[in-house]
Amino acid sequence: MRPSSLLPLTSRQSYIFILLVTLRVAESCLSALREGCMPDFHAVPMGMGGELLEMGRLNSEETSSDVLAQNSPGKGRQRLVDPDMGSTDFMFLQARVRKLEREFDDKTLFLMRSCNLTLDEVNVIYRSSPKLKMLSLKHHIEPILSRLSTEFRLSAASLGKLLTKFPTILYPACSRQFDDVVTFLQVMGINSSGMHRILTCRPQIFSLKIERNLNYTINFLLRDVNVPRHKLSTMLIKCPHIITLSVERKLRPALLFLQGLGLDATQIGNISAIYPYVFLFDVENKMRPTVRYLHDELNISSDNICRVICNKPQLLGYSVGKKLRPTVKFLVEEAGVPRHRIGDFVIRCPAMLGYSVDKNLRPTLNYIKTTCNISEPQDWMRYPRMLSYSLERRIKPRVESLTAIGHKLMTMGDVFHVMKQPEEKFRRMGRTGHLGTIHVL
Ligand SMILES: *[C@@H]1O[C@H](CO)[C@@H](O)[C@H](O)[C@H]1NC(C)=O
Ligand SMILES: *[C@@H]1O[C@H](CO)[C@@H](O)[C@H](O)[C@H]1NC(C)=O
Ligand SMILES: *[C@@H]1O[C@H](CO)[C@@H](O)[C@H](O)[C@H]1NC(C)=O
Ligand SMILES: *[C@@H]1O[C@H](CO)[C@@H](O)[C@H](O)[C@H]1NC(C)=O
Ligand SMILES: *[C@@H]1O[C@H](CO)[C@@H](O)[C@H](O)[C@H]1NC(C)=O
Ligand SMILES: *[C@@H]1O[C@H](CO)[C@@H](O)[C@H](O)[C@H]1NC(C)=O
Repeated sequence: MRPSSLLPLTSRQSYIFILLVTLRVAESCLSALREGCMPDFHAVPMGMGGELLEMGRLNSEETSSDVLAQNSPGKGRQRLVDPDMGSTDFMFLQARVRKLEREFDDKTLFLMRSCNLTLDEVNVIYRSSPKLKMLSLKHHIEPILSRLSTEFRLSAASLGKLLTKFPTILYPACSRQFDDVVTFLQVMGINSSGMHRILTCRPQIFSLKIERNLNYTINFLLRDVNVPRHKLSTMLIKCPHIITLSVERKLRPALLFLQGLGLDATQIGNISAIYPYVFLFDVENKMRPTVRYLHDELNISSDNICRVICNKPQLLGYSVGKKLRPTVKFLVEEAGVPRHRIGDFVIRCPAMLGYSVDKNLRPTLNYIKTTCNISEPQDWMRYPRMLSYSLERRIKPRVESLTAIGHKLMTMGDVFHVMKQPEEKFRRMGRTGHLGTIHVL
């Protein structure tokens, strides 16, 4: 990786480096003076790698010791090169240099700057993968990070997250495995932007054994779950998590549950491709209680449950207590939907159960009721999809633009008729003044 792709140093880092250089210079001056010769101010300490030379140049307007003098009053240049300095001071200085050197070796510096990590974060990574300390910066770490950032366009921040989740990616054995997985995923039709997403979401995939894990899971998805082959790559990119799920503990129970609802193979394949997250939901704690609620409390038949789920598989992830009950309560108590009609309502517009009461449903309903002065407020129940339109982006602008040209929406039917039009058609309606059944004041 070229130094230009490294992050700039923070002022604190710069200060530490300058301090480090200064301490090294001071140390060599001290030794020279103690031995009675003139210190060689041009002897740049090399022990800390090229980074320090670069650092020295970054602040050429101030000399390192000026900075040190400014930053630690009373401990200026005079004091540092004072030949009378006591040997405890000298040892203190040496200990400090050694400590800084240990902390900021080339590898640590490189990780901090190329992956936007703090020293603490790098140390956490070292602790979780101690072998990292032995790896060669030049032969292992640099080439892999460089490849990740050029080939898969990972930013410094993404590299940092990747290393925090999956530090062993830098190990040589792992990087061979990495190549194999990349090739396998490429064969599955995943391009480099897909690879980027998988690396940022679920880097663990790159440590899976091809035969035993990866191909096994993929074959299960294709054969048992019936995911259409041409939709596999989109599915994996959408939800990289799915490849790391255990077939026996997670995927198969979810599949059996979906089959138990009465969904056929094509429907299950379709649902999985469109919304692979169904496999992340817990069968017993999430999906089964939700389906039971739809069936027992909303009186939706099993056939209709299948229809609703094909239409809106997200429903399977809604919590009964946090989402379904509060929404139904709002519909019954505030929006005036008779309790026994909620089931029909959900069948006609399953998305309704996904909207937030406070952010979508209540404001939209209030706006329609008040601003439009709908004469028959209960009427909106015939148009449940009304509530699926964005209040700020669709409903308000359209009502306002109609009001501006003197049209008044009198019934819910009118409102829905206007809202359901595609944008282009709506503009044409406005221009020609042909608004169908809409009353013109
Ligand atoms: C580096 O990480 C810090 C938080 O640790 C963040 O505020 C900063 O924006 C990141 N910089 C880049 C270039 O990503
Ligand atoms: C990569 O694949 C995804 C989905 O398969 C697609 O949406 C995207 O456009 C592709 N990107 C490139 C650069 O080909
Ligand atoms: C994956 O499994 C399929 C079907 O069993 C097989 O044809 C293919 O060779 C396997 N691929 C790899 C890379 O093992
Ligand atoms: C449940 O729905 C069926 C028809 O779908 C209906 O006959 C029955 O009366 C409903 N039961 C309740 C308790 O609403
Ligand atoms: C798959 O699902 C989509 C959206 O839910 C639907 O439009 C399509 O008809 C379904 N295809 C099959 C084969 O079920
Ligand atoms: C709302 O409509 C009713 C009749 O439908 C009318 O009496 C009332 O004045 C209207 N209110 C507003 C604010 O337009």
